[in-house]
Amino acid sequence: TTINVVDREGTARSVDWEPGQSLMETLRDNDFPILASCGGTASCATCHVFLDKAFTDTLGPRSTDELELLEESEHYNPDCSRLSCQVEDREPLHGATVTIAPEDD
Ligand code: FES
Repeated sequence: TTINVVDREGTARSVDWEPGQSLMETLRDNDFPILASCGGTASCATCHVFLDKAFTDTLGPRSTDELELLEESEHYNPDCSRLSCQVEDREPLHGATVTIAPEDD
């Protein structure tokens, strides 16, 4: 699966998403500045990304934990915010643009 990733400087790069990886792991392994300090357990929010709205609809709803954490972010966007560690289904995201959210202060 190939996705298009836009970093915090606005630079876009095409990235391969390997089977068995979460979106967070894919971003981290491709040297994007994803801290992922909780290791992918939906408790730090440093893996916050924005997805194309069209793709968030196909992914299904966020878990309660994911939603609560995102809502605490000053950059939360109800339409397109996701915790990338909670996005593991890569097939529906082929061709999607993933934008790394700004860091919270
Ligand atoms: Fe911590 Fe996703 S890596 S919430």
